[in-house]
Amino acid sequence: MQSPGRVGTEQIVFTRGVPAVEALPAHLIGECIQAVLEAPNGWSVLQYGHNGGYLPLRQLVGEQYQVSPEQVLVGNGSLHLQDLLAALLIKPGDVVFVEQPSYDRAIKTFRRRGAKVLGIPLEHDGVDLQALEHAIARQTPTFMYVIPDFQNPAGVTTSTEKRQALVDLAERYNFWLVEDVPYRTLRYTGTSLPLLRDLYPGRVLTLSSYSKLISPALRVGYLVGPTEIVKALTKLAEETILAPVLPTQAAVVEFHKRGYFDTNLESLKQLYAPRMRAIIAALKQHLPAVPFAEPEGGFFVSITLPEQSNHTNLLARAQEVGLTLSNGQDFFADALDEQEDVASLGARFVRLPFCALTPTQIEEGVRRLATLV
Ligand SMILES: Cc1ncc(COP(=O)(O)O)c(C=O)c1O
Repeated sequence: MQSPGRVGTEQIVFTRGVPAVEALPAHLIGECIQAVLEAPNGWSVLQYGHNGGYLPLRQLVGEQYQVSPEQVLVGNGSLHLQDLLAALLIKPGDVVFVEQPSYDRAIKTFRRRGAKVLGIPLEHDGVDLQALEHAIARQTPTFMYVIPDFQNPAGVTTSTEKRQALVDLAERYNFWLVEDVPYRTLRYTGTSLPLLRDLYPGRVLTLSSYSKLISPALRVGYLVGPTEIVKALTKLAEETILAPVLPTQAAVVEFHKRGYFDTNLESLKQLYAPRMRAIIAALKQHLPAVPFAEPEGGFFVSITLPEQSNHTNLLARAQEVGLTLSNGQDFFADALDEQEDVASLGARFVRLPFCALTPTQIEEGVRRLATLV
């Protein structure tokens, strides 16, 4: 860990939404992989395997979501499944809705698969429902992609009322809701809200991942959805990756069996909660005029600098004071209407992932940011 004395000169990197290195349970994962390989049928996870993923993991996820294993597909991380889903569902001329801003890689993936990606403005409690209805009236999307808990990049949690409104609209206009919930269990304060799937399973595809809960390099993510979608995706997976990465999927099951999952989750929360509190406090102190959605969990908080702020050339000026920031534009999809100036919004948008930095680094990073704007 950095000593507070060094923070003044070191580069502070606010770009990557990755787990803290001290949160990666190397020793426990090592134990699990060894146990899996040394079990009587250990060879079975070294062979080409079932294409929907390691069956005991599909069963375990199925139990958590109260669905059968046939409704669960385990892939090489959830981004892999996002891409397969886009390949399956998107046809030429299709429109996909995302929250505006949204996860940059999701926007890229959907575009690469041929969709026009429209951003529905995100408020502090979920998307602007009026704007959503307006957009639906023009063209029904193939699907809408949402991150209802501790959104990447904005840190917003969608309220129960807006969750209900989303599923009502999906039912009425017959489009899929893709809910991506990799941060959902990393709640540091407040109480959990229902999944969209809990409100209306018929039109919801749920994506999640062990990347933030155990380790991203295991590449274990999953999708829960109707059997026919899971079957079609499994076929696509078979045609592209041939076989799932069974050793790490089996290690995840072992991690659960040994009771490590819950204790690890608890220590992640212990580590990350003070970091979230530190960034909220630092923003209030150093940028008091900039409103932001206070996260209750996850990895991110974001700010949109006021129009009159000095945000010209912000990334380069930040580098000069030892601050690395992401390009805000990447989190923005196409605008709903021409009056919306997405370029200006993107130039003023700053995502601040807080989990991989110490409270001292966070405080110093926000202080430096405030000197620039
Ligand atoms: C919202 C969201 N979805 C998906 C992913 C990708 O996760 P995975 O490592 O499971 O592919 C991320 C990673 O940052 C994310 O923030």
